[in-house]
Amino acid sequence: MLRIEKEVILAPMAGYTHSAFRRLARELGADRTYSELMNATGIIYRGDERELSYFTDLERPIHLQVYGRNPEEIARASEILVKKYRPDAIDINFGCSVKKVLKAKAAGYLLQFPKEMGKIVEETVKTLKPYGVPVTAKIRLGFYEDNLEEIAENLLSAGVSAIALHARTANQGFTGVADWKRVKDLKEMAGSVPVIGSGDIRSWREINEKFEESGCDGVMVGRAAVSNPWIFKEYREKRDIEVPLSERVDFILKEISLMWEFFDRERACRVIKAHVTQLFKGIRGKARLNDAVMRSKTCAELIESLLRIKEEFSP
Ligand SMILES: Cc1cc2nc3c(=O)[nH]c(=O)nc-3n(C[C@H](O)[C@H](O)[C@H](O)COP(=O)(O)O)c2cc1C
Repeated sequence: MLRIEKEVILAPMAGYTHSAFRRLARELGADRTYSELMNATGIIYRGDERELSYFTDLERPIHLQVYGRNPEEIARASEILVKKYRPDAIDINFGCSVKKVLKAKAAGYLLQFPKEMGKIVEETVKTLKPYGVPVTAKIRLGFYEDNLEEIAENLLSAGVSAIALHARTANQGFTGVADWKRVKDLKEMAGSVPVIGSGDIRSWREINEKFEESGCDGVMVGRAAVSNPWIFKEYREKRDIEVPLSERVDFILKEISLMWEFFDRERACRVIKAHVTQLFKGIRGKARLNDAVMRSKTCAELIESLLRIKEEFSP
């Protein structure tokens, strides 16, 4: 049984939530982390997951997230991950709705077939039982229509250990607003199985509100944590924290150096650029800062320009 009690969780985000960022988020107070989605076929046939599944004990409890098309494949890929890396849980992605994934009839596509979702969870639970590793699921309300009840029923009877709900339909993408009333409904349906709510959290105050309003067991923070990873600390300390530019630059430099453990040096610098732009959001002179960062072609240039920015903006 997976125990989740009032946890604030770093949401899985492809391209952002690798081992380095997860570690920094845990340091700042996130209670639990997830890897980004990894393709089951790639894991089975090509060992594609090597970089994405890298984690250290500092990121625990960690869920490694898998997506795919059919039960046997997802169960087999999950077993490979469990044997190699011993994560605290395997999470199955039923939410992603980017074109490539939909074309493969995987992840969010499966929201249209709740029985199939149940079969996937059932097969994976059965396969991982000897290892004692729980299976969780991350879902949306449905694909075109909200059919949360039917989805939840199938997952719960298949033995899912926790459900995270991004309270929009797949068809909505990121438009409209997340419907947290449905997180509350899911909590009522799920009984003792923990429910984690996700969608549109922007501040530590909203984390508080969502716990109160929905009674959920966990609140996930996604985009807001990318631009403000200090949100976890703010929630713990129940206060707003103003983070100066120099500290943001230090955060990025630390993140890059941690990324070198599992990414090639230059690759790390390319990947971090998207994060830098987010971390400079709302900062005075951000256009010029971003420009300096984006123009750097090598890792050495990037670090040099970050150090220059830090010096220039230090009080
Ligand atoms: C850039 C990006 C990448 C994402 N990648 C994943 C992913 O790999 N797996 C997943 O389950 N959800 C993924 N999500 C969805 C988030 O986990 C989360 O449910 C969603 O962003 C809503 O929360 P937010 O409003 O706090 O960002 C991603 C979201 C974003 C913005």
